[in-house]
Amino acid sequence: MALISLRQLLDYAAENDFGMPAFNVNNMEQVKAIMEAADETNSPVILQGSAGARKYAGEAFLRHLILAAAEAYPHIPICMHQDHGTSPAVNFRSIQSGFSSVMMDGSLMEDGKTPSDYDYNVDVTRRVAELAHACGVSVEGELGCLGSLETGEAGEEDGIGAVGKLDMDQLLTDPEQAADFVKQTAVDALAIAIGTSHGAYKFTKKPTGDVLRIDRIKEINARIPNTHLVMHGSSSVPQEWLAIINQYGGDMGQTYGVPVEEIQEGIKHGVRKVNIDTDLRMASTGAVRRHLHDAPSNFDPRKFLAEASKGMKEICKARYEAFGCSGHAAKITPIGLEEMSNLYASGKLDPKIN
Ligand code: 13P
Repeated sequence: MALISLRQLLDYAAENDFGMPAFNVNNMEQVKAIMEAADETNSPVILQGSAGARKYAGEAFLRHLILAAAEAYPHIPICMHQDHGTSPAVNFRSIQSGFSSVMMDGSLMEDGKTPSDYDYNVDVTRRVAELAHACGVSVEGELGCLGSLETGEAGEEDGIGAVGKLDMDQLLTDPEQAADFVKQTAVDALAIAIGTSHGAYKFTKKPTGDVLRIDRIKEINARIPNTHLVMHGSSSVPQEWLAIINQYGGDMGQTYGVPVEEIQEGIKHGVRKVNIDTDLRMASTGAVRRHLHDAPSNFDPRKFLAEASKGMKEICKARYEAFGCSGHAAKITPIGLEEMSNLYASGKLDPKIN
């Protein structure tokens, strides 16, 4: 089956009132876990590769892992998305190598750390959208910087994210500015800042509405109801995996993530893509630690990697079900990128201008 564009997938999700988890992938075990979970729940899939993943696996390995998933599961629509492209050049290279969707993160400068100004963000995002749409490829933009509303600290993880203290107006996306941004850039989806951050250390206690601003999602959605919203930093930091990691020799501090029920509330208000990386890392680490503790004589990596896959798969299944994706894979026929480019050119996919 051809890869699906993010735009087609999120349009379908919006029509059918569900949200898509977008899982970060770096290796075969993650890809297999996600695909097995999708197969068992009949869910469409977004597999996304970050700059960190490209550095770890190499662009060719990453691309072929995703293409292998498409070959092994021809009945499941897969969007191959590039996460946090920090410059137009990074995005253009991903388009060239066959990604069906890219993210131009112009909220940060090219170093992936320094917050940019609004005009820079509009300029780079618009340039990427113009070229990507000509290729039938979708574009996610970002407005606002991820970071903690508890501390005002920005959230750098895996080489992406602002560093240091940020102002409130950087940490929270402004609905009016979001409307202008979508209009000027023609992005297909918009990542917003509402108090979530990448990595495991998001909240020091179970988050309340003052530090996890679901109300801001509602305001943005009310202002731009036709724009697909994206929640980054949306791992739930499963407490059971945190306990397992620490029980078997790990040393992670007490921390909390984004509760699944809050994400479900977001999905009711325009959130269509939910980025998840940390949860799978935690399940994988916990499962490997436990296996190596319980079977100290084992020296076959396949055995502990299989445990890692099993742990990740359970999380993926739970998210597919909680976000409402189950049962939809078989109902979607991907439109090829060439046809998508014709649709953009004909104005039929006129960017969702509110
Ligand atoms: P988590 O670290 O919460 O999994 O977020 C991942 C992410 O947003 C990738 O872009």
